[in-house]
Amino acid sequence: MKNPLGEQSIESSKKNIMNSKKGWILGGLILLLLSGCSQDNRLRVVSPDRNLRVDVVLLDNGQVAYSVRYKRQVIIDTSGMGFTFQDAPPLQAGLEITGVSHSSFSEVWEMPWGEQRHVKNHYNAMRVELAETEGLMRRFDLVFRVYDDGLGFRFEFPEQENMTDVLITEENTFFQLTGDHLVWWTPGDWDIYEHLYNTTRFSEIDAISKRNHPNLAQTYIPVNAVNTPVTMRTDKGLHLSFHEAALIDYAGITLEIDSINLRMRSNLVGTERADYKVIQRTPFNTPWRTIQVAERAGDLIESRLMVNLNEPNKLGDVSWLKPTKYMGIWWEMHIGKSTWGMEGGKHGATTENAKYYIDFVAEHDLGALLIEGWYTGWENWIGHDDREGIFDFVTPYPDFDLDEVTSYAKEKGVRLVMHHETSSAVTTYEEQLDTAFALMSHYNYDMVKTGYVGTIIPRGEYHHGQWMVNHYQRVIDKAAEHGVMVNIHEPIMATGLRRTYPNDATREGLRGQEFNAWATDGGNPPEHLPIVAFTRMLAGPIDYTPGIFNIKIDPYRPDNRVNTTLAQQLALYVVIYSPMQMVADLPKYYKGHPAFQFIKDVGVDWEQSIVLNGEVGEYVTIAREERDTGNWFLGSITNEEGRELTIRTDFLDPDKQYKVTLYADGEDTHWETYPTGYQIKELDLNNQSEIRLRLAPGGGAAISFMIQ
Ligand code: NOJ
Ligand code: CA
Repeated sequence: MKNPLGEQSIESSKKNIMNSKKGWILGGLILLLLSGCSQDNRLRVVSPDRNLRVDVVLLDNGQVAYSVRYKRQVIIDTSGMGFTFQDAPPLQAGLEITGVSHSSFSEVWEMPWGEQRHVKNHYNAMRVELAETEGLMRRFDLVFRVYDDGLGFRFEFPEQENMTDVLITEENTFFQLTGDHLVWWTPGDWDIYEHLYNTTRFSEIDAISKRNHPNLAQTYIPVNAVNTPVTMRTDKGLHLSFHEAALIDYAGITLEIDSINLRMRSNLVGTERADYKVIQRTPFNTPWRTIQVAERAGDLIESRLMVNLNEPNKLGDVSWLKPTKYMGIWWEMHIGKSTWGMEGGKHGATTENAKYYIDFVAEHDLGALLIEGWYTGWENWIGHDDREGIFDFVTPYPDFDLDEVTSYAKEKGVRLVMHHETSSAVTTYEEQLDTAFALMSHYNYDMVKTGYVGTIIPRGEYHHGQWMVNHYQRVIDKAAEHGVMVNIHEPIMATGLRRTYPNDATREGLRGQEFNAWATDGGNPPEHLPIVAFTRMLAGPIDYTPGIFNIKIDPYRPDNRVNTTLAQQLALYVVIYSPMQMVADLPKYYKGHPAFQFIKDVGVDWEQSIVLNGEVGEYVTIAREERDTGNWFLGSITNEEGRELTIRTDFLDPDKQYKVTLYADGEDTHWETYPTGYQIKELDLNNQSEIRLRLAPGGGAAISFMIQ
């Protein structure tokens, strides 16, 4: 096989436009001759490092297909694509290639906040122009961007006579795997991502019987399908992860599993209100279908493919976005110490309690406080069918003085996080958005946590369908107008849009810590987060809400607990990235606790992040350098297996002196039997040192390297 760059420069101009099938065959022949490649009819684009290669081919029936190779391995074998529509014939076969062009792009852009400041965005692109040879003569472009760490491809539909209003019933994008890989997956669901992960061979994916937790809204799809990101490891040790980027005005994707043929097919999220899944008008683009590829599991986490495939910042100056830690009048409701509403006399969001938290946040410089349950309506929020109009997001309960609380917070230098639980009465929320955000502007709130518990109203819509995708975006736009950063619970999955809309900060979109407070299935097992780091976290920041010190949740929830050690709770501040990072437990469990110092010290906004080691579902160690201070923090977590890991500290600046503090599991610590055991040690080391970390089963370690 000839050097791919040579082939590329041959193709790399639009001079190669082939206007007929004959022309295309000729073009294929030229390519064949020059490349010495054994297959004809192929078009190719390779990654800048030449390891990843995409070939496009027109099949005999005129269907377009692609394949992907990494080094010498075929990772996606010839996979077709095509669309079906409600009122138009399918757009699948009978195509010809009318043009091909190649381009390259390289830039370094700056994240206003994030896992790192500077992001390299370097890819080679190929645009294949396709048209039907008969009938409606519809046209579209298939565009690939191939990076060193993965690829994205999408369909771009230009404006055209025979295709104006488009009602897509399915996008049949296939992914033909080449082995029975080990897969970390959650069952395909149109409403919620809050499921435990399963680890099975691809051929054993059974999303129908693994529907493991009842949620207030869940719509498992009737076929064997998984949600994305879904991560796999081939028998040769290569990691693949499938997702989508830049989901705008389109339905979310799930992947239908063909366990016999080892193949996946896109299965878009639909709506009961129409027979189509996506309504669009040309010109429009689909989201990018993405495949991350990594030899080292940790490289999946270091990859910035998701954000790179999105457009640059459209909000202009975003210096008003300020990442922060935050506490909440929150966990106390989840563990039943207090309630969101006033029923039963245990209201959490009282003026007095808010001041108590504000004092604590101020004393320990934790930045911000979320107050849930301060506005009326919570008596009816859950389990009620008629949820419209119950929340207005502006009327406080009588025991909560909004004026007093906000001015007290301001006096103490504490930011408040607004809460909008919509209870999925989305039409109501949209009607109230203006007043809700006006109130926030009046009181200078610059962060909101939104929530979508329950089935969506308008009925028949799903959390991950196009209508909701557009709703989530409307809220991001509205928030941007008001200078507000958004944390979405029960969201649509992140697809890298934080690059374009940097106030789209963080979200839930997984089984969060809250499940440990009330789930009846034992909560999140120790393997949960070592899987999440290599799956859900590839999509974007996670509001997991770490930091529970009262691991057994005594005396509030005798039957529930957190299934990690205390040291792992610290490590999560580094491992699970979020620009809004919660300090989730009650103040009384932090008071006087020596390990609380780590939470006080740890950064939330990073100059750079390095994944030092890790295997999906087993363990992972991440080190991050805080922006502006140059302090480093390290977090390491493991599943139910205890382990020893050797860490080299060569990431430290050789010219700086650090005060290094290790927060680790103690000798007898074990997530199940003795989760609260810990030790704190000062270490004397520099950038030439090695540390041996001992992680207990279900444990972790956290290290602060504070510049002296
Ligand atoms: C579910 C969210 O995930 C949780 O954080 C919140 O406290 C409740 N909904 C109430 O809004
Ligand atoms: Ca939730």
